[in-house]
Amino acid sequence: MQVLTAEKCGFCLGVRNAIKIAEQTLEKESPVYSLGPVIHNQDVVSRLAEMGLVTVESLDDIPEGTVLIRSHGATNDMIEQIQRRGLRIVDATCVLVKRVQQKASRLEAEGWKVVIAGDPQHPEIISIAGHTEAAVVAETPEQMKALAASHKKMALLCQTTQSYGFFSRMAAAAVNAEFSEIRAVNTLCRESQRRQQAARELSERVDVMFVLGGLHSANTRKLAELCSEGCKNVYHLQNLSELKEQMTRNCRTAGITAGASTPDWVIQEFTQEIQKL
Ligand code: F3S
Repeated sequence: MQVLTAEKCGFCLGVRNAIKIAEQTLEKESPVYSLGPVIHNQDVVSRLAEMGLVTVESLDDIPEGTVLIRSHGATNDMIEQIQRRGLRIVDATCVLVKRVQQKASRLEAEGWKVVIAGDPQHPEIISIAGHTEAAVVAETPEQMKALAASHKKMALLCQTTQSYGFFSRMAAAAVNAEFSEIRAVNTLCRESQRRQQAARELSERVDVMFVLGGLHSANTRKLAELCSEGCKNVYHLQNLSELKEQMTRNCRTAGITAGASTPDWVIQEFTQEIQKL
């Protein structure tokens, strides 16, 4: 089996930084809590849990200590609540997400109706919207068009890990709707774009494509979606434990890519094993 790995894959700068901040905090402090998983990767979350990081779903579950703001960021409201409770904050928000939060807040202050294109349930989108008074989230071109009925001056931002194709479709829908003024700001993350491009190109050259990463990781799911356009056999797996022999049956070349929150050791372990097949 010939095994090829995408030119760009695995940890992005934002994730690397969030893990480093978590590790450094855990070396010095205890207890340290994270509101939701620091990043969307179970292997990493388990390792940080062994070091002492406690992941909780609600602020009510934190009696004292330090709260680590995860890479996706937190809403203004959440930050205020943490401060009111007298808890210490360590901020591991990705700098790019932070920039989009600030952009959204500035555009709203300038009088634009802020529309964020993306998944309304994703923590990054929730944190960006939570830095404004009344931003709305649109997931489909139809939702985008419908917004024109109630808003005239619209500023469009995008979830950082979406594809350029998605952003273009949403921007085109906005142009075709009846907003009187539109401002579209490309807030896509370059790290994410490079991974998508490399994965898409590789998927066309292989018989089977493996996309490694957390099942809740938006950027990993996006990689799997793009790879499906180039290859008929695409498997989104969390790690080596999910590999089955029949996945590579009759295949002579395998491609591997991994989401921005997938650690190097998961990619290496998987690559070594598949080379043996
Ligand atoms: Fe940040 Fe981009 Fe990674 S937004 S967390 S550098 S995928």
